[in-house]
Amino acid sequence: MSFCVEFPTSEYKAVSLPAGSNLSEQLTVVNSPVLFGCRTGICGTCLVQIQSGEDTLTPPDEAELEALEIYAPGIKNARLACQIALTSDISLIRIEGA
Ligand code: FES
Repeated sequence: MSFCVEFPTSEYKAVSLPAGSNLSEQLTVVNSPVLFGCRTGICGTCLVQIQSGEDTLTPPDEAELEALEIYAPGIKNARLACQIALTSDISLIRIEGA
């Protein structure tokens, strides 16, 4: 089973990734606008805003929430892509400048 990840507002094509896979592992090997650094939820490089599908994702844990308060205060549906396991079709845009 796989799910679709779309990147609206970018030139990148949607990709189909295995269900349950971590975005930091999968989006590195396909063409995507999302960049990764630490892959552990600390650096904020992978900051994205989920445009659709956010309600089906596992909610951010406390550590991710703390990081989001620093890197994306007030931005609705902001997530760290490296902390997301794919549980549905989603669309996301990269938040730059984190
Ligand atoms: S890659 Fe560093 S927080 Fe996600």
